[in-house]
Amino acid sequence: MTGGRQKGRMGLRSCFLGLLALSVAGKCSYSPEPDQQRTLPPGWVSLGRLDPEEELSLTFALRQRNLERLAHVVQAVSDPRSPRYGKYLTLEDVAELVRPSPLTLRTVHKWLLGAGAWNCHLVITQDFLTCWLSVRQAELLLSGAEFHRYVGGPAKTSVVRSLQPYQLPQALASHVDFVGGLHRFPPTSTLRQRPERQVAGAVSLHLGVTPAVIRERYNLTARDVGSGATNNSQACAQFLDQYFHDSDLAKFMHLFGGTFVHQTSIAHVVGKQGRGRAGIEASLDVEYLMSAGANISTWVYSNPGRHEAQEPFLQWLLLLSNESALPYVHTVSYGDDEDSLSSTYIQRVNTEFMKAAARGLTMLFASGDSGAGCWSVSGRHQFRPSFPASSPYVTTVGGTSFQNPFLVTNEIVDYISGGGFSNVFPRPSYQEEAVAKFLSSSPHLPPSSYYNASGRAYPDVAALSDGYWVVSNSIAIPWVSGTSASTPVFGGILSLINEHRILNGQPPLGFLNPSLYQKHGAGLFDVTHGCHESCLNEEVQGQGFCSGPGWDPVTGWGTPNFPDLLKTLLNP
Ligand SMILES: *[C@@H]1O[C@H](CO)[C@@H](O)[C@H](O)[C@H]1NC(C)=O
Ligand SMILES: *[C@@H]1O[C@H](CO)[C@@H](O)[C@H](O)[C@H]1NC(C)=O
Ligand SMILES: *[C@@H]1O[C@H](CO)[C@@H](O)[C@H](O)[C@H]1NC(C)=O
Ligand SMILES: *[C@@H]1O[C@H](CO)[C@@H](O)[C@H](O)[C@H]1NC(C)=O
Ligand SMILES: *[C@@H]1O[C@H](CO)[C@@H](O)[C@H](O)[C@H]1NC(C)=O
Repeated sequence: MTGGRQKGRMGLRSCFLGLLALSVAGKCSYSPEPDQQRTLPPGWVSLGRLDPEEELSLTFALRQRNLERLAHVVQAVSDPRSPRYGKYLTLEDVAELVRPSPLTLRTVHKWLLGAGAWNCHLVITQDFLTCWLSVRQAELLLSGAEFHRYVGGPAKTSVVRSLQPYQLPQALASHVDFVGGLHRFPPTSTLRQRPERQVAGAVSLHLGVTPAVIRERYNLTARDVGSGATNNSQACAQFLDQYFHDSDLAKFMHLFGGTFVHQTSIAHVVGKQGRGRAGIEASLDVEYLMSAGANISTWVYSNPGRHEAQEPFLQWLLLLSNESALPYVHTVSYGDDEDSLSSTYIQRVNTEFMKAAARGLTMLFASGDSGAGCWSVSGRHQFRPSFPASSPYVTTVGGTSFQNPFLVTNEIVDYISGGGFSNVFPRPSYQEEAVAKFLSSSPHLPPSSYYNASGRAYPDVAALSDGYWVVSNSIAIPWVSGTSASTPVFGGILSLINEHRILNGQPPLGFLNPSLYQKHGAGLFDVTHGCHESCLNEEVQGQGFCSGPGWDPVTGWGTPNFPDLLKTLLNP
């Protein structure tokens, strides 16, 4: 999984001198991320260039070691047929494995000190280094970078970024993967309200998804809640000034909670909770994670990297590598177009998911809300995969709707459900059989020029994503839709399964995909009706892939039938 990583090219003798003399653009420097998108996202504006004496923070992703061994460990601890299944590593074991070489640490420190940057902090695994320095120092170190302040996003967030590419001295090429805090803007949620999904003439009868509906559909009884007898916990992460309010949670449970036992507040907030208005995304995540994973201790990662110059998603990854005891299940409703991210960054983030998998953490990502997606490459339409949904080391959650919106019965595809094939990661072995079967048996395959059939295919599973009720800022909001909703629901259900495993003396589920595919989706309701959206043109007419029996790139293996899934996952 580490192909494509920049390898050092230290051919030019004179370049060895380049380190202390800082970097000079040209033959003695290299671009770590030449393929990173650097355009200003819609809705953001520049407030001008920063003063050289202003302070900012940069994150250096240092070259790790033993990544092949890490891949073997992940395979061994996640495969129920392996003798090492469930024998997870501690964070300290992971550090032992991936920690950069002493030469890497020395070289990078020397370079930073040369520019007067001494206020630097490592994470426990020593593979990320965050430094506080002046704009003048940063622009000296990162040749070509020009820091400006930009403002945008739903909360009019202000960030410091460089739209100009940066170069590093050639002598660092074998030591630094990339520098964070320059190009990537904070992610925005694609969550939407979809009143257009009402059935004509029956608007006032719309059923709407509530915790009671979720628990009924997925066959959770009042007894299926956390026992309080374990240290089981679960977490969700928020990235863009999205806050939740405990009072919303209370009102939500009062209005929609039904009869199940649940917790009334967040156990632990990591990061800063602003005092501002609640965000619908944050409210949704907390309310449904705590309704499916009821009575289980819940953490929220709130806006990690709140400094203007930090990338919140990257800061969240750093937090994971700087804390030994973490919740077992993490749900994240965030994604970017795979093609907008540099390959160095994508590979490195994927390695961070491998580190999490080695520790037995379950990482769930929303599959996205644009179906197969669509973009144009040299005048030709193609589907557009999203990342981290396309990482082979996370479990990706798609979306469904009720076939009859007035009854809690069968689910069909929610047309927005993100799914497809990665252009970066090859198909991992655990899904070889399932994907090959889909490709050879689906009667509705889109033209092959639209997708890369050899890539990692997603999603892996699904849950309802249409028509949720959410309470945010004391107001009950209907029709909230997106895979942002299905992801915490699936996460909460996995936490309930972890609860039983821990009570049985078994290790938590960890990286789920190898067992999920080995058991052919046993314990999941197979969604077989419907197709998701894609390019609106004559060739495909807005249709991407279609679901069918077994795994498909629209709803994966399907939605959880709790008693069956529990049985399946308690007996590896
Ligand atoms: C990691 O945690 C330690 C101890 O809490 C802290 O001193 C250090 O600054 C953290 N590292 C980063 C990069 O934040
Ligand atoms: C819910 O959790 C609490 C501890 O957090 C525990 O005391 C209680 O027994 C649990 N309720 C049920 C129904 O298991
Ligand atoms: C739960 O307990 C186990 C065993 O004592 C420990 O290794 C783990 O770190 C704890 N998890 C959390 C989130 O506290
Ligand atoms: C298709 O995916 C493979 C990896 O699975 C990748 O190497 C190749 O470049 C991709 N092709 C396109 C056109 O993106
Ligand atoms: C819940 O159980 C009922 C009755 O056995 C079944 O019809 C339904 O499909 C189950 N739900 C799921 C999501 O499988």
